[in-house]
Amino acid sequence: MANFDYDVLVIGSGPGGYVAAIRAAQLGLKTACAESRETLGGTCLNVGCIPSKALLHASELFEEASSGALAKFGIDVQGASLNLDQMHAEKAKAVKELTGGIEYLFKKNKVEWLKGSAAFESANSVRVGERTVTAKNIIIATGSSVTPLLGVEVDNGGGVIVDSTGALALPKVPGHLIVIGGGVIGLELGSVWMRLGAKVTVVEYLDEILPGMDGEVRKEAAKIFKKQGFAIRTGTKVTGAKTANSKATLTVEPAGGGAAEWIEGDAVLVSIGRRPNTDGLALDKAGLQVNAKGQIETDHDFRTSVPGIWAIGDVIPGPMLAHKAEDEGIACAENIAGLTGIVNHDVIPSVVYTHPEIAGVGLTEEQAREKSAEVKIGKFPFMANSRAKTNRDTDGFVKVIADAKSDRVLGVWMIGSLAGTMIAEAALAMEFGATSEDIAYTCHAHPTHSEALKEAAMAVQGKPIHI
Ligand code: FAD
Ligand code: NAI
Repeated sequence: MANFDYDVLVIGSGPGGYVAAIRAAQLGLKTACAESRETLGGTCLNVGCIPSKALLHASELFEEASSGALAKFGIDVQGASLNLDQMHAEKAKAVKELTGGIEYLFKKNKVEWLKGSAAFESANSVRVGERTVTAKNIIIATGSSVTPLLGVEVDNGGGVIVDSTGALALPKVPGHLIVIGGGVIGLELGSVWMRLGAKVTVVEYLDEILPGMDGEVRKEAAKIFKKQGFAIRTGTKVTGAKTANSKATLTVEPAGGGAAEWIEGDAVLVSIGRRPNTDGLALDKAGLQVNAKGQIETDHDFRTSVPGIWAIGDVIPGPMLAHKAEDEGIACAENIAGLTGIVNHDVIPSVVYTHPEIAGVGLTEEQAREKSAEVKIGKFPFMANSRAKTNRDTDGFVKVIADAKSDRVLGVWMIGSLAGTMIAEAALAMEFGATSEDIAYTCHAHPTHSEALKEAAMAVQGKPIHI
């Protein structure tokens, strides 16, 4: 039998890769993880989830302190001002602590970090930097990068047109930020800079923002964002960009064709999606191919078409979310160790961390109706939830979608200030195959926002109490 350097080599240390490596090591497998970045944690910890949430939190505090919104609670704040350098420094501190934490966990679990870029030499051997290593199992967890937009060139090194990485580090608040793409990144980072004082225009190709989410939630979100001050131009495409004198001029046209116009901004954020990272991996040397979208296809157990090579996270089909990558990492390592690792891809929650937050799990109403005509819907507005009313923060609603015959919950969608936390209960209920009645008869603490989920479940049967 061949001798390998490692039982498992993971390529990429994002939430998919680092979690897979730690689980493999916990299961007694000799494990290494190759990472080309200076720090561990991938997109999520370095230039994604964590720094964006740090800025969302800090900008929300700034807006609260500076907008006069606290006055109605009897709190008069005078002279609140922005120290953007300090805001960035605190964000960097959070990132450093968390990426350092992964390094600590690698040491604790005896996962070896191979520093450098990895490329296949064969199905079992990989070149990492100057070294070639062999492994019985290789997990590809190389994640994704920003999708470029033809004619709109990104320059994160101080240029006017940036992608999410540049938009997380703008040295000053732009007078006018133009966001290309009304998806998750555009709305989260657009919110950050709007709260800090920028005028924000979102240019979205489709007729509505937030594709993939429940239709009613998308409409409500657009209404709320417009009320907050976002200028949202749907059904509009960007066909070119010019930069001069620290400004950018975008050429835009109606998506269906028509007369061009020009929009000038002090900064432009390109956020039209992400694409899988496979360039430079030399997949052909391992006998692997990508699909039409550039993704690596796997079976239900995360096996690729080549025995001994596995793939997880953003580089495979499915939503590009950190928690999906993490769960796949655990399941994949367990499958390699001979256990039964499963991810239920029907129950992956997604959250947009704007204010209010937007969250969903399972089928949207549109998807549920397409699958079956017999769907029951229960909705409950935060306007009628006592805690939301007490906090003077009543935007949004909770919506439960259930099968009319079995009452089984098919999906839950919500928009509200704590939606991102509340969605966990819906995911747990669905994982256990709950009916709307199960949620309705579960005792929920009072006064909490979560009571809105209970009432939405009661509304499926037409019997909420408070509306
Ligand atoms: P990644 O995190 O992309 O990690 C892959 C790693 O592999 C990288 O570190 C890369 O350097 C390394 N790598 C690539 N190729 C090689 C190679 N050849 N050799 C060695 N190393 C290599 N998701 C959420 O769930 N919640 C959020 O709030 C959220 N916010 C986000 C905000 C932003 C601005 C962005 C950009 C993304 C956000 N995401 C969020 C998405 C999330 O970051 C990704 O879904 C997640 O990081 C995917 O994990 P992964 O392990 O598949 O890959
Ligand atoms: P996205 O897919 O969420 O949104 C991209 C938007 O751009 C879509 O609305 C699309 O219709 C639009 N678009 C595409 N081409 C366009 C064009 N030429 N002109 C104008 N609009 C165009 O992608 P986004 O926001 O870049 O995020 C990438 C990924 O990162 C997402 O898949 C998401 O899952 C992940 N992410 C997750 C977060 C979270 O979980 N809170 C936060 C940030 C990112």
